[in-house]
Amino acid sequence: MENMDNIKFDSHAESSKRSHFSTALTLLTYVWSPDRTDLKIRVVFAVLFLLAAEISAVFSPYILKYLVDDLTGEGGTAEVLIVVPIALVIAYGAARVFQQGFGELRDAVFAKVGQNAIRQVSLNTFKHLHRLSLRFHMDRQTGGLSRVIERGTKGIDFLLRFMLFNIVPTFLKIVFICGIMWFEYGPAMSLITAATLIGYIYFTLAVTEWRLQYRRTMNEKDSEANTKAIDSLLNFETVKYFGNEDHESRRFDKAIAGYEKAAVRSQTTLAYLNIGQGFIISTGIVLVLFLSAQGVANGTMTVGDFVAAHAFLMLLIQPLNFLGFVYREIKQSLVDMEKMFELLSVNREIDDVAEAIELKAGQGEIEFHNVNFGYEENRQILHDVSFKVKAGQKVAIVGPSGAGKSTISRILFRFYDVNSGRVTIDGQDIKEVTQASLRAAIGIVPQDTVLFNDTILYNVGYGRPDASREEIEEAARLASIDTFIEKLPDGYDAMVGERGLKLSGGEKQRVAIARTILKAPRILLFDEATSALDSRTEKEIQKSLKEVSKDRTTLVIAHRLSTVTDADEILVLDGGHVVERGNHHQLLEKQGQYADMWARQQEVEGYQEKLEQALS
Ligand SMILES: Nc1ncnc2c1ncn2[C@@H]1O[C@H](COP(=O)(O)OP(=O)(O)O)[C@@H](O)[C@H]1O
Ligand SMILES: [Mg+2]
Repeated sequence: MENMDNIKFDSHAESSKRSHFSTALTLLTYVWSPDRTDLKIRVVFAVLFLLAAEISAVFSPYILKYLVDDLTGEGGTAEVLIVVPIALVIAYGAARVFQQGFGELRDAVFAKVGQNAIRQVSLNTFKHLHRLSLRFHMDRQTGGLSRVIERGTKGIDFLLRFMLFNIVPTFLKIVFICGIMWFEYGPAMSLITAATLIGYIYFTLAVTEWRLQYRRTMNEKDSEANTKAIDSLLNFETVKYFGNEDHESRRFDKAIAGYEKAAVRSQTTLAYLNIGQGFIISTGIVLVLFLSAQGVANGTMTVGDFVAAHAFLMLLIQPLNFLGFVYREIKQSLVDMEKMFELLSVNREIDDVAEAIELKAGQGEIEFHNVNFGYEENRQILHDVSFKVKAGQKVAIVGPSGAGKSTISRILFRFYDVNSGRVTIDGQDIKEVTQASLRAAIGIVPQDTVLFNDTILYNVGYGRPDASREEIEEAARLASIDTFIEKLPDGYDAMVGERGLKLSGGEKQRVAIARTILKAPRILLFDEATSALDSRTEKEIQKSLKEVSKDRTTLVIAHRLSTVTDADEILVLDGGHVVERGNHHQLLEKQGQYADMWARQQEVEGYQEKLEQALS
């Protein structure tokens, strides 16, 4: 009976917002995909094979009946030769072979449908995750998201498999066999069989549902014990400092004792389940055998009928053996799938408006009109920020850390929508154009560059995936990273490590600059793009950045003021307010915050430069 009880299973089977029914329906739309005729044909054939397998299965008790009747000389064929029994024996074998063969065909034909459904769901979820806002992703752990997808796809696999290979065939068998019994042996036998099965199923589901609490406790206690053990071992030294080994052991033992108790409960209640199931089935068998024995005695049934009735019952009972397990797992699969489908129904915070148009090609004039913004409701970051970067101009934003400089770049890129005010590019509100066209027009070198765990060539080429190797090398040259790359043993094919950890901050920044050069957008945005470089490399790159940004609208967020002295306008941002604006000379004359910062940095930079010269 239930002997798959030890298979590990997760505890969060609480029902969620989506109903199981709508989850199953969603899944069905993936199985019966409208634009895949080939898959629909497969589904149809799988169902046909499934029917054929069940019909073949139901045949074997029939054949058994004729065989027994033949051998006992009943059924009016007493004088038949030995040929008939042999033919029936062969037919019996054939029925079994057909049953298995059709079953295998059903699985083989359906495999592609199931796997395609899994692939489509995973792909849709993945695409959807990329469409969700930066805010959503900042609030979620990436590992958690991928686990939801992994569990969800496993759930689909399990559900489809057991639906098609266990639940539906069992259901068909019940219908077929009860029908046959009614037809062959009359309503009494058929009703007894049906009642036995319904009782069996009801009992199993109810007890399994009740037993779930022990499973949940087991899982909870298990992870509790685990956390305690890990925490205790992590604090190995502290435990020694205080000589608290016994105390730790007691704490751990308490947790595993809870597990022990729940596990014992789970196992003993499994015995109840099995005993109950056995009792119900035996009662059914006894009744059926009693009725058929009576039938034989009365002469209304043959010995063959007696044997066949028993065989029919056995045929039904066998797939129901794992019902408890299947029920539990299906429930879990539904919960896991729901979690995944819920991800799919998370609304996009930043969405293209219904009639979004492409950003019109223009010179790339950027304007912020009285922008107010905060990441969270009760903490405003930008206060009434207005500025304009005329086409081809260079505007710099400077100010202390935390002033909101990077926030401006995220708003321009529309990672977030403003709370009030407008941002326009060439007079078009960025909310009204497609995100794709907006983002294609802007090239960002961010403050912190994260690289893909791939080669340098791939990472630079990411700026324009169809770029040729020559173009990539040219971009690397412009970003002054070519000599570094050529010195690597693997050159452009060197791997950069996870998140680019094998490169220094400055090297990563140069890779980021190179790929933005390759993208060649209308508008450039450098967010402290050279802050991780020493001043000599910075000067080198400044040259190439100047080259690249010639005739392009450029917004530079700078830490080192010496890199923006040539800007057409400099905004000093402090606490989200634009506190000063003007060009370098105007700002120096003002003798305000900018002039202060400048004086301080000149001192430091003069010293640094001397130091660097002395060292080189
Ligand atoms: N995703 C976020 N959620 C909430 N607050 C944020 C988020 N990102 C940045 N902030 C806050 O916004 C303020 C401005 O940040 P930022 O624009 O990155 O400053 P900086 O001028 O140094 O680039 C900081 O106080 C920071 O704590
Ligand atoms: Mg910043």
